[in-house]
Amino acid sequence: MIVIRKGIRNHGELMNTIRNKKFYITTPIYYVNAEPHIGHAYSTIVADVIARFYKLFGFDTFFLTGTDEHGDKVVEAAEKSGETVKSYVDRISNTFKETWPNLSIENNYFVRTTDSKHIEVVEAILNKVFEKGDIYFSEYEGKYCVGCERFYTDTELADNKCPIHKTELRVIKEENYFFRMSKYQQWLIDFIHENPYFIRPERYKKEVLAFLKDPLEDLCISRPKKRLSWGITLPFDENYVTYVWFDALINYISAIDYPDGDSFKKFWPVAQHIIAKDILKPHGIFWPCMLKSAGIEPFKHLNVHGYWNVNAGKISKSLGNAVKPLDLAEKYGTDAFRYFLLRDMVFGLDSDFGEEALVNRINADLANDLGNLVSRSVTMTLKYFRGVLPEGDSWREEDNEFKNAFMKIFDEYELFMQEFSFHKALITVWNLIGIANKYIDTMKPWSLAESDKERLGTVLKNVIEAIKVTSVLLWPFMPEAAEKIQDQLGLELKGFKLTLEDVRQWGGVKQARAISKAPQLFPRVKFERRRDEAEETEKNELLSMEEFQRLDLRTGIIKAVKKIHGSEKLLELTVDIGEIRTVVAGLANDYDMDKLRGKQVVVLANLKPAKLMGIESSGMLLAAVDKSGVHLLIPDAESTPGSKIR
Ligand code: MSP
Repeated sequence: MIVIRKGIRNHGELMNTIRNKKFYITTPIYYVNAEPHIGHAYSTIVADVIARFYKLFGFDTFFLTGTDEHGDKVVEAAEKSGETVKSYVDRISNTFKETWPNLSIENNYFVRTTDSKHIEVVEAILNKVFEKGDIYFSEYEGKYCVGCERFYTDTELADNKCPIHKTELRVIKEENYFFRMSKYQQWLIDFIHENPYFIRPERYKKEVLAFLKDPLEDLCISRPKKRLSWGITLPFDENYVTYVWFDALINYISAIDYPDGDSFKKFWPVAQHIIAKDILKPHGIFWPCMLKSAGIEPFKHLNVHGYWNVNAGKISKSLGNAVKPLDLAEKYGTDAFRYFLLRDMVFGLDSDFGEEALVNRINADLANDLGNLVSRSVTMTLKYFRGVLPEGDSWREEDNEFKNAFMKIFDEYELFMQEFSFHKALITVWNLIGIANKYIDTMKPWSLAESDKERLGTVLKNVIEAIKVTSVLLWPFMPEAAEKIQDQLGLELKGFKLTLEDVRQWGGVKQARAISKAPQLFPRVKFERRRDEAEETEKNELLSMEEFQRLDLRTGIIKAVKKIHGSEKLLELTVDIGEIRTVVAGLANDYDMDKLRGKQVVVLANLKPAKLMGIESSGMLLAAVDKSGVHLLIPDAESTPGSKIR
C-alpha cells in the first residue's frame, strides 16, 4: 500500500504501475502579434518540465507547441509592422521557434496554423460537424474584442469594456455560421462531474461549472471574408473564413496526424493541455464540445495556471511591460531562470515577477544549498580519495535514516509532479538537500579524515549517492545542471544520463571514472537595479517641497515631567507649543527629569496621536540619536513657544 502524505491529492497512479507508458502535453499556440515574453516562457517551460519528468520514467512522450497565425489581431499587427501578413507571421513564428531551444525546451513538434497539414484537418472537422447538423447559418449582433478575438456577453464586461484589455468593444452585426454548442452543455456538465480532475486545479473546474449554470450560447465560428480574409476558408461556404478559435484549438489533433496517423492513435488518449486562466473558456467549454460533436474522445486533463504579473499588472505587449525571457536566461542562466519560474509560482495562482526575487533564489537555493553541497562533497572526495571512493564499508545505524529519507521520496515527488504541484516537488527536493548538508555537518568528514578513514569513505559515498538522487529529481527542472553534476561524478551510465530506475537502488550505479572538479554550478549573483528603475526609486525617496511643508514643526517649552509606571525609558511630558500638549518620549535613560523641566525643544505637532503605555501622545520631540544616546534638538536662542520651524 502506498502511504501518501497529507496534502497530496492522488490525481493518478504511481508511475511504475502505469502500463500504457505514453504521455502527450501541449502548450497554447501563441499569437504571432507579439514576441515571446515571460508568460509564454512559463507555459512552455512547464510543458518541458512535465515532459522530461515522464521521460525519466521511460514514457514515450510527445510535446507540442506552436503559433496561432490567423485572425484580426495578427492582421492588425502585420499592418502596423508594414510587412505582408505572410512574411510577418513567418518572422514572428520563427522567433518563437528559435527562442525555445535557448531555454532548454525540447518540443517534439512545432505546429503553425498556416501549415497545410493543419488546414486540411480543420476542413475535415468542419465538414464532419456540419454534416452532423451541428452548424447553422444565422444573423448575429454582439460586442467583439479584437484583442481576445471573441464576442463578450454583457455580464462578462467590466465597465462596459473588455475585462482583459480594458478597451471599448466593437459592436458587430452580421450573418454567420454557428456551432450548436448549447446541444452539448448537459453532456459537458456531467462529464466534468464524472471526471473530477478533467480541469485542474479545482478552482478552474469550479469556474467552468459556474459558467455552465447559465444557458450556453451557440458559438459563432465564421467571419465574412469582406471583413477578414486572413483565415481558413469554410469548406462549405467560400465567402467565409473560420473563426480563429475554432481553427486554433484543432492544432492539438492536427499536429499528431488526426485521424489516421500513428501519433494520433498513440497520444490522443493521454493528451493533457497547459493553458493560463485567460483562455479557460475556449479550452474548458468550446474544445470539449467541438470534440464531442466531431466524435473524438475528450482530452485527459486541462491544466490551468495563473498569470505572472509585472508591476502588479498582467504582462502584455499592449501594456508595455513584457519581460523578455531570453534576456533573463542569458543574464542569469537558463537553469536558474527555469528553477525560479517553477519554484515561485504556485501552479494555478498568480505570481509577481521580480528580478530581485530571482537573484535571491539563485543565491540562497542554488548557490548556497545545492551548489555548496555538490562542491564541498566533490572537493572532499578529491582531497581524501583522489576522486575514487573506496570499496570498504562501515555502515552505521544513522546512515539508515539518511538513506531512507532519499529512498522514500520518490512516491511523493511523483504524485506532486503528476498533479502539477511543481513548487511542492521542489520543496521536497530542497528538504533532501538540507538533510544532506546537515549529514555532512554532523558527520564532520574533515575530522574523520584524521581518525577513521574507512568511516570517512562510507560517509562520502552516502553523500555522493544523495547527490546522484538529487540530480535525477532536478533534471526535469534544470537539465543542464543535472547533467553537469552527473558528468562530474564519473558514473557508469547506460545512456548519457541517469534515470529514476538507476537511482532507486542505493549505490546501484557504479563509478566508472574518478570524480572530477568542475567550475561552480551556480556562482552567486548581485542584483543591480536597472538605471531607470534606480532613478525611479530615488525619485520616490526624495521629499517634494509640498510634502515637507506638510510637516508642522514648532518650538516648545517642557512645562512638566512625569515618570510612566511600568516603563524605564518613557516619560510623560507636558509641552507648551502655543497650546498645551501631552507628549510621551523615550528620554528617561538620557535626561534627569529635573533638567528637562523648562527646556526648549522642537516638536512635530501634526503627528497622528498614538497611545503609549495607556497615555495618548500628541506630537514628537526631535532629537539626534547616536551610540552615546539621545540628544534633544534645541533652538539656539529663546523663542516663543509655537514658533514655526521653516
Ligand atoms: N492563440 C491563443 C491560444 C490558442 S490555443 C489553441 C492565445 N495566445 S496568446 O499568445 O495570447 O497566449 C496566451 C497564453 O500565453 C496563456 O494562456 C499562457 O499560457 C501564456 N501567457 C501569456 N501571458 C501570461 C502571463 N502574464 N502569465 C502566465 N502566462 C501567460 O491566447
